[in-house]
Amino acid sequence: MTSAEIRQQFLDFFKSKGHTVVPSAPIVVKNDPTLLFTNAGMNQFKDYFLGNKPAPYNRAADTQKCLRVSGKHNDLEEVGVDTYHHTMFEMLGNWSFGDYFKKDAIAWSWELLTEVYKLDKSRLYVTVFEGDEKEGIPASKIALAEWKKIIPENQIVFGNKKDNFWEMGDTGPCGPCTEIHVDCRSEEEVAKIPGRDLVNKDHPQVIEIWNNVFIQYNRKKDGSLEPLPATHVDTGMGFERLVRVIQQKQSNYDTDIFTGTIAATEKITNKK
Ligand code: GLY
Repeated sequence: MTSAEIRQQFLDFFKSKGHTVVPSAPIVVKNDPTLLFTNAGMNQFKDYFLGNKPAPYNRAADTQKCLRVSGKHNDLEEVGVDTYHHTMFEMLGNWSFGDYFKKDAIAWSWELLTEVYKLDKSRLYVTVFEGDEKEGIPASKIALAEWKKIIPENQIVFGNKKDNFWEMGDTGPCGPCTEIHVDCRSEEEVAKIPGRDLVNKDHPQVIEIWNNVFIQYNRKKDGSLEPLPATHVDTGMGFERLVRVIQQKQSNYDTDIFTGTIAATEKITNKK
């Protein structure tokens, strides 16, 4: 599949599940003083999550241009050093505004990855929030129960607030999340170290591709968490990473998203 087909399949899949496909928001945020650049697909929907404005639809899906070069989500030190971070990237996302929640979000993410994109189920790992006593946030029992229906328990990994509680910035909508990781190593390497031991350990071939966030709180200026009147779904899948996994490349830069640009640059500069 080409990257264009992979992108279209994501949008078509969520359209078939009742989502309205919407355009990417501008990368420079115009009406939110807490943020300079769009750092996640959910930014443009912030007011719907907080209940400041009614959402014009219950479900949406899109591919959002994102920049993570400063602030809470800053990948700048990784760019050019590894094979899977970028300055600007595309984030595929599906959203529920007070509509479906953990059960459907989890089931659909699995259906898309394994039945549409046909990823090898044995190479997928999921993370579940273990809870945080200091913040008074419980462990994600529902997410765990839903994953147990789908995936063997040895492919479920528990994570702490750093990896499994997603926040847009210092303030704003947030909540526990469950991530999906893929082990792209050779059979030989897998036999030596199980993939679950390498989840969220910065291994270049065991990478997170999708984050399903369950927006339940608003982080206030004073640092406290305020429960929201309704619960929402906010997901973000790294398009360049997904394409790399489907096209079976070792680096995002070897996918057809980049090879044309790199070849043209080589021609102009006469440099490999
Ligand atoms: N908002 C979900 C993510 O960026 O991971």
